[in-house]
Amino acid sequence: MTSQTQTSQAPNESAAATDNPALNRQMLAILDFGSQYSELIARRIRETEVYSEVLSYRTTAEQLRQLNPKGIILSGGPSSVYDEGAPACDPEIWNLGIPVLGVCYGMQLMVKQLGGQVERAERREYGKAALQIDQPADLLKTVSDASTMWMSHGDSVVNLPDGFEVLAHTQNTPCAAIAHPQKHFYGVQFHPEVVHSTEGSSLIRNFVYDICQCEPTWTTEAFVEEAICEVRARVGDQKVLLALSGGVDSSTLAFLLHQAIGDQLTCMFIDQGFMRKREPERLIEIFDKQFHINVEYIDAGDRFLAKMKGITDPEEKRKIIGNEFIQVFESESARLGPFDYLAQGTLYPDVIESADTNVDPKTGERVAVKIKSHHNVGGLPKDLRFKLIEPLRKLFKDEVRKVGQAVNLPEEIVRRHPFPGPGLAIRILGEVTPERLHILREADYIIRQEVRRSDSYHDFWQAFGVLLPVRSVGVMGDQRTYAYPIVLRLVSSEDGMTADWSRAPYELLESISNRVVNEVEGVNRVVYDITSKPPGTIEWE
Ligand code: XMP
Repeated sequence: MTSQTQTSQAPNESAAATDNPALNRQMLAILDFGSQYSELIARRIRETEVYSEVLSYRTTAEQLRQLNPKGIILSGGPSSVYDEGAPACDPEIWNLGIPVLGVCYGMQLMVKQLGGQVERAERREYGKAALQIDQPADLLKTVSDASTMWMSHGDSVVNLPDGFEVLAHTQNTPCAAIAHPQKHFYGVQFHPEVVHSTEGSSLIRNFVYDICQCEPTWTTEAFVEEAICEVRARVGDQKVLLALSGGVDSSTLAFLLHQAIGDQLTCMFIDQGFMRKREPERLIEIFDKQFHINVEYIDAGDRFLAKMKGITDPEEKRKIIGNEFIQVFESESARLGPFDYLAQGTLYPDVIESADTNVDPKTGERVAVKIKSHHNVGGLPKDLRFKLIEPLRKLFKDEVRKVGQAVNLPEEIVRRHPFPGPGLAIRILGEVTPERLHILREADYIIRQEVRRSDSYHDFWQAFGVLLPVRSVGVMGDQRTYAYPIVLRLVSSEDGMTADWSRAPYELLESISNRVVNEVEGVNRVVYDITSKPPGTIEWE
């Protein structure tokens, strides 16, 4: 999905739902056999500007025929094809006449189902391997000989089915890439989707464009146009409510909806009192004053703070804040309404149906999907009186940012660091009191100012302070002090799942420490957290 043009133009008002570009959009289907990389395959394909979806491996050939994908990818997975109950695809898929690429387990399954043989290898291969190309044809035509690919497998293909040939091997894997050129079936034992496979994206591109003959139709502009058409067709002249948090998802959604339906949209911004300094004011300024989007500001700070009295357990804090949020939302939406629709910024990773493919990588057993309720404190009640619209439900986070840019969301929100729903309440360890909240808010403000001043905001995934509920002795002038420490947390990360503590310049650490201790009453010490994730988490609660 590209975003070269930053269009602010809403598509033609007269565009009818039947002009919807989605109807002509080409797609690739990924059948998920439980690999941790299935989503990554989808992202890599979308990076080539072709739409892709992750589907259950149980999707039947008939269902696929209806979806009409230009190609099918069978993902990797933790099982062995010979395990009892190992997941398998509908064998009719081989008669659809659609190109297939099997990745790791997907390739082994292809070989087994088509009459070849897979065996447990003498040595498990894990890590980087040099791909020796035997046939530099279609799938590998742009891949250099001896390029690095990432391997992670126990089983190996030992006999190819009829009509297949070897395209490449590695030192330990004779059949590292295979093809049935007439039928357009391909298999790779390695994982082209991971970053360690240096030319993996190029291989994926060859599959998408040369073998599946796709065209680049998944662009930001096409998505925005399509989403706006869909929203208009669905909503008509009815009213839509959106719970705005100021994060990139709900803000992008607000801008998109505003382009689609203008004043029929109302954004409800509930300030729970745990936002950062000047954040609520800035949000109102941008949405209301600058872009004339209807925002109802609900100041519920006192209410939330009262509920925090005596609460020290992190999960209890989250639960209380979540429940309170729902109550405020319900009463305020009744007051402001009626509304017909509720818009939610649900993203694709939340949607992927993996219930029947989630497999424990250690045991190979299927396990129940764990919903990440932990992060959804802004979650809304199940028995909603509204109809739901979720225009971002096909997008990955990086795609949301591109859509945000395309609908003119200011850069400061598009590229904003993540900020947890419960806000500063989970950055004050122990009980949240007005005094502690004030101290952390001031310290956090200085941290953000200094990070911006040193021009390093985008070097970090997050940059913030944590207040510890202990006091230590210090000295200021001739006075002995006894005050709180602030923990400085600066981390780098790709996606928040893992993170590294940042090797920030001493000058930055020094300026933050000096200013926080000198300017924030109640703090006499700044310490730097040098723990990565894992084993630490990014937040302290
Ligand atoms: P952890 O602390 O689990 O955080 O390493 C990973 C990412 O998630 C954010 N985070 C939250 N976001 N509600 C949210 O909306 C929460 O309760 C929450 N807890 C953590 C965190 O800031 C980081 O980006």
